[in-house]
Amino acid sequence: MARQYEQEYQRSIKHREAFWREKSALISWYERPEVILSKDEHNCYRWYADGELNTAYLALDYHVENGRGDQPALIYDSPVTGSGCTYTYAELTQQTAQFAGVLSELGVGKGDRVIIYMPMVPEAVIAMLACARIGAVHSVVFGGFAANELAVRIDDARPKVILSASCGIEVDKVIAYKPLLDRAVEAAGHKPDHCVILQREQERAAMKPARDHDWNELMAKAKPVDPVPVIATDPLYILYTSGTTGKPKGVVRDNGGHAVAMRYSMELIYDVGPGDVFWAASDVGWVVGHSYIVYAPLITGCTTVLYEGKPVNTPDAGAFWRVCAEHKVKVLFTAPTAFRAMRKADPEAKLMSSYDLGCLERIYLAGERLDPPTYDWLREKTGLPVYDHWWQTETAWAIAGNPVGLGACPVKPGSATLPAPGYAVHVLDSQGNNCEPLEQGSVVIKLPLPPGCLPTVWGDPQRFQSAYLDSFPGYYMSGDGGYFDEDGYLFIMGRTDDVINVAGHRLSTGEMEEVIARHPAVAECAVIGISDELKGQVPVGLVLLKNGVNVDPLQLEADLITRVRDEVGAVASFKHALVVERLPKTRSGKILRRVLRDIADGMDYKVPSTIDDPAILDEIHSQFSTFRRRRMA
Ligand code: COA
Ligand code: AMP
Repeated sequence: MARQYEQEYQRSIKHREAFWREKSALISWYERPEVILSKDEHNCYRWYADGELNTAYLALDYHVENGRGDQPALIYDSPVTGSGCTYTYAELTQQTAQFAGVLSELGVGKGDRVIIYMPMVPEAVIAMLACARIGAVHSVVFGGFAANELAVRIDDARPKVILSASCGIEVDKVIAYKPLLDRAVEAAGHKPDHCVILQREQERAAMKPARDHDWNELMAKAKPVDPVPVIATDPLYILYTSGTTGKPKGVVRDNGGHAVAMRYSMELIYDVGPGDVFWAASDVGWVVGHSYIVYAPLITGCTTVLYEGKPVNTPDAGAFWRVCAEHKVKVLFTAPTAFRAMRKADPEAKLMSSYDLGCLERIYLAGERLDPPTYDWLREKTGLPVYDHWWQTETAWAIAGNPVGLGACPVKPGSATLPAPGYAVHVLDSQGNNCEPLEQGSVVIKLPLPPGCLPTVWGDPQRFQSAYLDSFPGYYMSGDGGYFDEDGYLFIMGRTDDVINVAGHRLSTGEMEEVIARHPAVAECAVIGISDELKGQVPVGLVLLKNGVNVDPLQLEADLITRVRDEVGAVASFKHALVVERLPKTRSGKILRRVLRDIADGMDYKVPSTIDDPAILDEIHSQFSTFRRRRMA
């Protein structure tokens, strides 16, 4: 283990406040914090409570003031529209200041919420930064979510303004966003005062008089505004993430701790600095997009790449290599599923040879477990270091990773490597005792969480407590299971709750179950995640019919697919529903999901001692054998 890492890690745990006081100097403050760690009125830990700063200033104006005005800040590369452009720091600052003026004119001020429901266009980034500039709180909703999901978020965040675009563009189709937005606003109890719509040439949106405004028209009239100081603990954004219940949790991100953590993580994990080109191939709707397309690279003075396309089919599996070569990307970060898609389409990576990848130094993966075959393929084809790292929407940056900036540690395929400084990671058994090395348990983090991590759940501190802190007092429960090996390397083995991970997207099976259960023919259901070669996991619904109901199972499956698509979104990739006679349950009535998953994946399974009726497992087993044959065909 690298000595420098060991020293830094120990200091971050044993001398926590001194450590984070020192790291606070990585960014520029209007008022430097004196209070490093404290607790708020809800007894939640807070970082830098008396510091004052502005995140958009750090990401933009600061660099212009320090001679980086002409450096590219953001490169937009859009194979789906055949277009692209580059914004220098000076240009991005000007556009953001101008759009901050638009928001101010619409009455948005400090603490007001703004929902951003947009595709991967530069305006989405400008919108996020413009909110930060005036102290408003943005909440970006991923474009692949359906109207109902957007409505739930509107009711929870209660935005003054919603920002959207006429459409998003997928591989072979244009997806009209505006009708989804209209349906969501109609369904929500809370109504925004205004909607601002970016009209794209692929699809013009119909506007509602008085409520809707054209983005470009407002921009043309607006006056730029300066960044306003905010308190470090003021919220920068809310990002909703799936939990075990149907209602997503609004993860709150503060300004001060987040800015410090973003800057620190760029040194520690990615080992990049000002002027480097950094590309996180994700979407601004996910935490990877928030942290590593927008905030961390810009706060660091890097050039960030915003890619509106896919790893395959836009136009081919060489797209990522083209982007890296064309924009001289030094560090690439994406989810393993992207490389699985590329490997399937171009197993020998022949398309790579058309591009000069001399610029690319390292590849990072997160969002789901980096399976060793994908790791091996990537290593072999690129010859570059490939690093897995583990984190969550809740944390904003790596809980465990390879501390490359302090000296890279040897990679162990299947492991996220070592806990990042600031995170006291433990693996606990069900009694709350530390597990032995190699013994699997719940992966938890001893409180306090380091800067950058969520201080609470939006509008619901009680939910923060019950969802994350109650299970193991004194610890944050990550929801993941895993183990340490004898060298202290952390292996994350998957969720211990009902959250599934589909193509690097975190989804709640509970949410899909709620939609399925509303079908008139359905008495009861369970959605489980089963293994999928490309997406890691995909959901499958097991459905019990109401007594006396007689429906064609294939017709029912088609209906349920449509319902989940319409109510959760295409991103759920819900494509299979099986009608079953019974569901395996414990004697206390809990569905045995684990055993269902094992059966579905064709693995050996143990008959749980708590099962009510073991014979059900044979029935399910035979149904899944037929299902797997159907899927293969
Ligand atoms: N707006 C609207 N619809 C969207 C969307 C968006 N922003 N993003 C995805 N969708 C739709 C897709 O069109 C697809 O619809 P379909 O069922 O009609 O084909 C559906 O949601 C599922 O999308 P996706 O999960 O992206 O699957 P895919 O089969 O289109 O592509 C991959 C598979 C692996 C290529 C793709 O998931 C990918 O590029 N992943 C990269 C990893 C990533 O971005 N991870 C995020 C966290 S780091
Ligand atoms: P999200 O909040 O969408 O970023 O999803 C976080 C979840 O994705 C984690 O709780 C894990 O279950 C999973 N995850 C993310 N990164 C990794 C990784 N490197 N290895 C294993 N699982 C991961």
